[in-house]
Amino acid sequence: MSDVAVIGAGYVGLTTSVCLAHLGHRVLCADIDEERVARLSKGEVPILEDGLPELLSEGLSSRRLTFVVGARQAAARANFVFLCVPTPQADDGSADLSSVEAVAREIAPVLRRGTVVINKSTMPVGSTRLVQRILGESGASIEEVRVASNPEFLREGTSVQDFLNPNRVVIGCDDPSVAVRVSELYRSLDAPILVTDPASAEMIKYASNAFLATKISFVNAIANLCEAVDADVREVALGMGYDQRIGFEFLHPGPGYGGSCFPKDTAALRYTARRAGYAFSLLDGVVEVNRRQHERMVEKLTALVGGELRGRTLALWGLTFKANTDDLRDSPALVIARRLLDAGAHVRAYDPAAGERAGAIVPGLEIVSDPYEVCIGAAALSVLTEWDEFRWLDFDRVRDALEAPVVLDTRNLLDPGALRRLGFTYEGVGRS
Ligand SMILES: NC(=O)c1ccc[n+]([C@@H]2O[C@H](COP(=O)([O-])OP(=O)(O)OC[C@H]3O[C@@H](n4cnc5c(N)ncnc54)[C@H](O)[C@@H]3O)[C@@H](O)[C@H]2O)c1
Repeated sequence: MSDVAVIGAGYVGLTTSVCLAHLGHRVLCADIDEERVARLSKGEVPILEDGLPELLSEGLSSRRLTFVVGARQAAARANFVFLCVPTPQADDGSADLSSVEAVAREIAPVLRRGTVVINKSTMPVGSTRLVQRILGESGASIEEVRVASNPEFLREGTSVQDFLNPNRVVIGCDDPSVAVRVSELYRSLDAPILVTDPASAEMIKYASNAFLATKISFVNAIANLCEAVDADVREVALGMGYDQRIGFEFLHPGPGYGGSCFPKDTAALRYTARRAGYAFSLLDGVVEVNRRQHERMVEKLTALVGGELRGRTLALWGLTFKANTDDLRDSPALVIARRLLDAGAHVRAYDPAAGERAGAIVPGLEIVSDPYEVCIGAAALSVLTEWDEFRWLDFDRVRDALEAPVVLDTRNLLDPGALRRLGFTYEGVGRS
């Protein structure tokens, strides 16, 4: 059992905290957000994540999990300090490491001899050395405090499951004995552990996310081509996916990727490539296809309502960047909603998890709390997030509420045949 500090109680930090406590470690999780710490200390989970409430409650009642305000207090007692703070996109596309740097400066003076600081936030190549340097400059002994990269690959919506059943654990460190100590934290997990140099570990995270983004843009491009030649992208993706070299995952066309990771991580990797003098035109293409895919959804909707959005009422189902999360960061649905509003439409939306917050983020977006009510008098309905509950709604009611029975299904979630039999005009992505 180790004493672990986790700095940042967001999607990654909170998941890391509850899971490490579940694995038997003593975990002190710190955040700067006092309200978040107070709520977590009472067992209230501030984010939607399957399995988190149960493990939070388990950690609190076993007293292996505690929450504090401020990184310093947590780091002072730890053998391992996980940095799980945000690394958002800066204006030039690079990863903004200011939170990481601030935490490193804050904790440096209190770190105990032998402590390992672990970069779990997604940070570009060179960050392990950067954190080591800042710790040294801010009062930690370089010989006594070591830094390792341990990127996180969890998916929002299944973060607990992913953390406890990882495909792999990557540890980047120059010192093999430090890597072994970090790997022991994960001893009870059944996963391959890959120990690399720090730069390779940092690159593994960006390369993985860029590859997944590439798969999505690729299948979106194929979907667009399928529309032009009358093929069905679902059949195409199925036929491709049986090839084990390709696989089925991430071959679902849609409105383009979004979320808190792919957009910023692809931007940061492009920035790294520019700085390194490498023309990463493949990744440039992936990002451009994605940007165009958002636009394409707006164009489809415009065509479906007769070419003019101004003054029209439009209904949206789903605002989060994917289903089973309440995360709205860089959600394609919000990009699309803003475009529709800019074009003069009246936009009304329903989301099962994040409607209210979305309304606060997008001025002019009307939020309603019922999937039928959102449809009343709308010229078309657009499905923007693949929430499972949308499949099972009463489409007679939906049709009767809409001004015209028109559906744009950007996630290919619904059954076109069934909807057409009910009198809907249905349009999906990459299929007729
Ligand atoms: N969200 C994901 O699916 C995911 C997956 C893998 C990796 N990552 C990476 O993990 C990192 C964190 O992402 P996230 O989604 O958990 O972010 P988040 O915004 O959900 O959480 C970050 C938390 O850190 C806290 N924080 C900020 N500055 C702090 C400070 N100085 N001291 C203490 N706490 C501080 C914030 O209040 C917030 O609660 C990012 O680098 C991200 O790219 C995210």
